[in-house]
Amino acid sequence: MSDTPTPQPAAADAPGYYRRHIFFCLNERTNGEDSCAHHRAQQGFDRCKAQVKAMGLAGPGQVRVNKAGCLDRCAAGPVAVVYPEGVWYTYVDESDIDEIVTSHLRDGQVVERLRTPPELGR
Ligand code: FES
Repeated sequence: MSDTPTPQPAAADAPGYYRRHIFFCLNERTNGEDSCAHHRAQQGFDRCKAQVKAMGLAGPGQVRVNKAGCLDRCAAGPVAVVYPEGVWYTYVDESDIDEIVTSHLRDGQVVERLRTPPELGR
């Protein structure tokens, strides 16, 4: 008999308190270094929260929108990450946020054009 752990089901298949959870980096550096807050991150967060609520997507079993501190991918900022898929986005304006809300948070379709390039980290 092997001690190898039994593979677990993909996160997307597991029931969770929220169907999808999006975290926005709102970190602001005041030491002259760049950070997401310098790229309208608060506006992106506010727009997402408002759209999710307006579309009736907020709440248990549905979608949760949360603030986060630095997610350590500052070079790609402003960034947000959606779980359980673990998909990272770099957005620019409200239309980008609206597309993330309708395509991914509501319909489960990743918005490929807004995915954060994998090589961009801190
Ligand atoms: S400041 Fe936003 S990821 Fe670091």
